[in-house]
Amino acid sequence: MKRRDFHHLLQRSAVALALSPWLTAVAVPANKPRAWRSNPFALGVASGRPRAESVVLWTRVVFSEEDKALGDEALVVQVEVFTDAALKQRAQKVELATDATRGHSVHLHLQHLQPSTDYWYRFRQGDAQSTVGHTRTAPAPNADVRQLRLALSSCQHYEQGQFIAHAEIAKEKLDFVLFLGDYIYESSNVQYAIRKHSGEEAKTLTQYRSRYEQYKRDPMLQAAHAAHPWVLMWDDHEVVNDYANDQDRQHTDPQQVLLRRAAAYQAYFEHQPVLLGPDASNPANMRLYDQLSWGKLADVWTLDCRQYRSAQACRDPVRGGGRMVMQCDELSDPSRSMLGYEQERWLSESLSVSKRQWKLVAQATQISSTSIPAPAGRAYWNDAWDGYPEARKRLLQTVVDAKLQNVVTLGGDVHCNVAANLRLEPNNPQSPIVASEFVTTSITSRGLGDKPAAVIRDSNADLLHFRSDERGYSLITVTHNDVRCDFRTTKFPAGSEVSLKTQASYVVKRGKAGPQLI
Ligand SMILES: [Fe+2]
Repeated sequence: MKRRDFHHLLQRSAVALALSPWLTAVAVPANKPRAWRSNPFALGVASGRPRAESVVLWTRVVFSEEDKALGDEALVVQVEVFTDAALKQRAQKVELATDATRGHSVHLHLQHLQPSTDYWYRFRQGDAQSTVGHTRTAPAPNADVRQLRLALSSCQHYEQGQFIAHAEIAKEKLDFVLFLGDYIYESSNVQYAIRKHSGEEAKTLTQYRSRYEQYKRDPMLQAAHAAHPWVLMWDDHEVVNDYANDQDRQHTDPQQVLLRRAAAYQAYFEHQPVLLGPDASNPANMRLYDQLSWGKLADVWTLDCRQYRSAQACRDPVRGGGRMVMQCDELSDPSRSMLGYEQERWLSESLSVSKRQWKLVAQATQISSTSIPAPAGRAYWNDAWDGYPEARKRLLQTVVDAKLQNVVTLGGDVHCNVAANLRLEPNNPQSPIVASEFVTTSITSRGLGDKPAAVIRDSNADLLHFRSDERGYSLITVTHNDVRCDFRTTKFPAGSEVSLKTQASYVVKRGKAGPQLI
């Protein structure tokens, strides 16, 4: 393709994004140079959703009080894309308009790229210029790929530690960062704070925006975004703790929950390198669940465990949300779903036909059981897959029915490093191991105490590794022969000067389900 054609295609894609229904009303102003008093790109840059031919580039323009006084009307932002780190070979220059209705966020769905190729990018507005980001496209779908290397991460409560894990992630050689939710926390827990959220609990669009602004100003988080593309999924705290579809813990009117959720989803979209997804007309109904392939080596699914799920089983009538439940008949109701009918069907269909060597099923929480003995039977944590056992059975039955080997699930949310066997019947040695699970600990958020963690570990034979005391991320290396997980950690709370060590390493070998300690 000629460079001119390429340029036109890029412009078309940029305009197409600007014309999608939610993004209609930008009056494109003359791009008169503007003198900025403070850096409009103070939230950094990011790239995400890597595909063989495309990637999403992101930034958001922010205004100081002085800059706002000069007007915060619609702006045109230039995006420059280069094929070399020295920024000598400019492949493209695209102009995008943005305005206050989208928080002056900029999303460029950069298409018609080469597979397995590095790109560098930066944004300009007036006399200001952003830092330079690096990104890389996925391999071609039929490419023989030797390795996929990713950083698995989740749960970064700003108040509960420094983002030291991101400083290490930024320096690693990775294909992408896989972040599985709790990117922000809407609320505070002063008991464990080593630094402070600004503002009250986020409930409105303005409050969610300022929460993201605070997180995005962190230099270590910015470095991890500038270094690699990210593949993103949300969990509950991007909206409110333990929400389930249109339900929250306070049993608030579902219409009110949906309004809060819409504000939270819009702020999420405005701050991440993501697309609205097919058929979504605005961020309130964006579809974040997705699938990407990595040559012939791996298929990766990212599952949304919040937007469509049934409410938690046997909720407390006053304080709903997550809790330990026992003697709860609702658990065995087959109509209850973690993913919602549509997403479950989509996953089952695409998983069943996957021919790639490894099937990596990424979702926000933990699939293996953490149940404990109780006076009458066992008690189950109703917010994770233990609270949706029929849906878990259907997911694992799909693996059995399609005779799939080499299925590895990746999770977050529980602030624990977990390596586990997945069986149709959890903890039953007679039930075959059908898949393997790795769950990463939190970047910063406090984990379970040592005593309850020990009880859980001792009560579930499928848990080969279960440690909640340390913070960090997990390095996942996928090759033809195995999937390796290195739990990289430091003690709680994570300081800014510490370095991470390897807590433990596990491997899943081709053709043999179940992680093995290295
Ligand atoms: Fe969390």
